[in-house]
Amino acid sequence: MTVVTGEALDPLTMRRTMGRFATGVAVVTTLLDGEPHGMTVNSLTSVSLEPPLLLVCLGSGARTTEAVRASGRFGVSILSARQDEIALRFARRGADHFAGLPLRFGEHEVPVVPDALAHLECVTERQFVAGDHDVFIGAVRRVCDREGEPLAYLGGRMGDYRGRDEEPIHWFA
Ligand SMILES: Cc1cc2nc3c(=O)[nH]c(=O)nc-3n(C[C@H](O)[C@H](O)[C@H](O)COP(=O)(O)O)c2cc1C
Repeated sequence: MTVVTGEALDPLTMRRTMGRFATGVAVVTTLLDGEPHGMTVNSLTSVSLEPPLLLVCLGSGARTTEAVRASGRFGVSILSARQDEIALRFARRGADHFAGLPLRFGEHEVPVVPDALAHLECVTERQFVAGDHDVFIGAVRRVCDREGEPLAYLGGRMGDYRGRDEEPIHWFA
């Protein structure tokens, strides 16, 4: 057990500690002046079911962050277990993330990643700066999903999710 408090609680410690929390991997996309932008995220969170709201935290100053801020809309593509290459592609700083990738669009003028497990198309409902990230709360306008295995992320590594053979827990029912 490692205990860190006060000034010693640096970004690496925060990253390591939050890295204990397993997440999926998604790509946040938008279109600005006809140009597609996108970045890999694991900060995706469901905020509200009624109305349907989600949030993503995007690093302040990242190209996609600026583009989402300016366009007022964004798409979220939840990646499948086979899409680790896509996750790495959209995490490369300074690279043209869409080079050679067939562009697909949702109904709300946002590009989406082909073959993802799910697409959610959002209009920005609220945005604010929190520390070194911009938080975007999106009102979900359209979703599309399919069955399949998700790409998982834990401790800085991508991997497969292995479920237990138990009944699903419908805690929200
Ligand atoms: C698995 C994974 C999850 C990530 N999650 C986030 C995130 O939630 N927010 C964020 O700002 N950057 C995140 N990143 C880093 C961005 O994808 C990366 O900085 C990206 O290149 C920035 O986009 P830009 O090229 O548009 O500036 C993540 C990277 C990986 C590999």
